[in-house]
Amino acid sequence: MIEVKNIKKVFGDKTIIEDVSSVMKAGQCNLIIGASGSGKTVLMKCMVGLFEPNEGEVLYSGESFTAMTGSDKTEIRKQIGMLFQGSALFDSQTVEQNVMFPLNMFTKDSYKEKLRRVNEVLERVNLVGANKKFPSEVSGCMKKRVALARAIVLNPKYLFCDEPNSGLDPQTSLVIDRLIKEITIEYNITTVINTHDMNSVMEIGNSILYMYQGNKEWEGTNKEIIFSKNERLNEFIFASQFLQDAKDMRMLEETGKISGDRNMEELLDKDAPILIPPPNEE
Ligand SMILES: Nc1ncnc2c1ncn2[C@@H]1O[C@H](COP(=O)(O)OP(=O)(O)OP(=O)(O)O)[C@@H](O)[C@H]1O
Ligand SMILES: [Mg+2]
Repeated sequence: MIEVKNIKKVFGDKTIIEDVSSVMKAGQCNLIIGASGSGKTVLMKCMVGLFEPNEGEVLYSGESFTAMTGSDKTEIRKQIGMLFQGSALFDSQTVEQNVMFPLNMFTKDSYKEKLRRVNEVLERVNLVGANKKFPSEVSGCMKKRVALARAIVLNPKYLFCDEPNSGLDPQTSLVIDRLIKEITIEYNITTVINTHDMNSVMEIGNSILYMYQGNKEWEGTNKEIIFSKNERLNEFIFASQFLQDAKDMRMLEETGKISGDRNMEELLDKDAPILIPPPNEE
């Protein structure tokens, strides 16, 4: 579990994060969503210690990471896996070398042991046999999976993914989302994901923090989003009229006022009257 308590981050005279608190639980994907520039990456960097917050603290499993120094901080860092925006692979290194990098940095394991672990995680992300390929030789989806393999190679308790789907088509994004979700559950990882991919929100958003201009505007699950009356959130998530209609329909379905197929037809028929059937039909 990760707790963020009253985080504030200022750059010069610009307050980027004003006052954000949240709890991110183990075994689930904790999403941070919000418009470009709302402070998602800055918040994530404060959480992993790449930025020092001006105020507030971050706790890992109840221990204040912010107050830690030296070897204690290094211990937590070893438990953190990070999937950077754009994958951030070393272009001049093979897939195997990229994934082995954290093992070289943080362990004294023999080459044989390290290779065994590399092959284990490559298998987990469905990349068996890709060891000797270079990043330029593999697809965007494979690059993300290499980056994910590298992020989990040290068996992290905490996994941070900054825009894991950027540059991927919707179906490939789903493959990556599902893989992250499976791994999160399988190893009981506290996973934090920055995204503005609405498919991800609906697919894996057990817990969603919506950032608006440096503040937490809304928090809840993907199911609760359907019922949320928060106008800023609704404008952000259901930006198009099509999605707004889909939300309205889903709300009615969920509240049991309509039955699927018939009302789907009605919704598609612009001249159809009202969606709610008369009482004797319920
Ligand atoms: N190192 C920095 N120095 C000064 N300002 C910064 C720094 N890093 C980020 N910012 C500013 O903080 C604000 C929030 O940036 P951030 O990258 O967190 O947004 P974001 O929500 O992740 O956006 P995106 O969806 O585009 O990734 C931006 O106005 C950005 O210019
Ligand atoms: Mg960002």
